[in-house]
Amino acid sequence: MSEFIRAEHLSFSYGKGEDAIPALYDISLSIEKGEYVAVLGHNGSGKSTLAKLLNMILVATGGKLWVDGKELTDPDFSEEDLFALRRKVGMVFQNPDNQLVAGVVEEDVAFGLENMGVPYEEMHKRVKEALRLVGMTEYAKHAPSRLSGGQKQRVAIAGVLAMMPACMILDESTAMLDPQGRQEVLDTVERLHRDNGITLLHITHYMDEAARAKRVLVIHDGRIWADGTPEEVFSRRDELREIGLDVPQETEVVEILRRAGLSLPLGCVGTDACADAIVRALTEKP
Ligand SMILES: Nc1ncnc2c1ncn2[C@@H]1O[C@H](COP(=O)(O)OP(=O)(O)OP(=O)(O)O)[C@@H](O)[C@H]1O
Ligand SMILES: [Mg+2]
Repeated sequence: MSEFIRAEHLSFSYGKGEDAIPALYDISLSIEKGEYVAVLGHNGSGKSTLAKLLNMILVATGGKLWVDGKELTDPDFSEEDLFALRRKVGMVFQNPDNQLVAGVVEEDVAFGLENMGVPYEEMHKRVKEALRLVGMTEYAKHAPSRLSGGQKQRVAIAGVLAMMPACMILDESTAMLDPQGRQEVLDTVERLHRDNGITLLHITHYMDEAARAKRVLVIHDGRIWADGTPEEVFSRRDELREIGLDVPQETEVVEILRRAGLSLPLGCVGTDACADAIVRALTEKP
């Protein structure tokens, strides 16, 4: 594996001088190519700011940042570099309605490619493939406005995929969806991560969604508060509570039983793992 994202003492403030509002402080981290990282943090902790620094919707005000070996904080970072970066790092936002611009699904998916001046043949091929990857082929000629929330978000993902990014950042992309829509979107991006090696950063308020990642990053008041496996992070239940975060429901159940005296691990994550641990604890010989 090789490094895809590297931040060294990265900071960002909105506004300048006396009116500056600091949003991120001293962020240092490294994310490898092909990693699946969930980002947690309560409202206003700085998650979206971090995401926006990664594809340069915002520019860092301190420290250094690299994406795929290219330094974004280099004063010589050019327009062309920016163009290349945007193709590498695709963002999917919260509200699917704000991301869909065309009247027909396939035109929407082609939008970014058209702006890039991709030749028609190539564009057609990529749109078809992107729609196939998100399971929306049969909706190619449909109007996005008539799709469900989950379907709209999958079309937005197809638009990002058509650019063939190495990394996808989902900024609460499941927040406005019903449980089925959330499942559709997660299944889609996790499959792309697994099969195509796409680096996945998933910003979410849902603990059960964060538990599906291999690594969980917790941001609190603009700083990295925790960075580890879901088990490591969710074993800090009481501290998480203090900063306004929960643990996944099944982790909570295991924790309550552990405190009641059952022999159970700290920070049990995943429904199957938790169920197994409970069964084992209950059938254990005293
Ligand atoms: N455009 C802006 N101008 C000024 N301050 C901003 C702006 N955008 C965000 N902030 C401030 O920066 C801080 C971090 O905001 P950010 O949007 O990154 O948080 P977040 O973790 O994504 O929150 P949420 O969970 O609500 O999406 C907050 O204090 C917020 O008020
Ligand atoms: Mg946000």
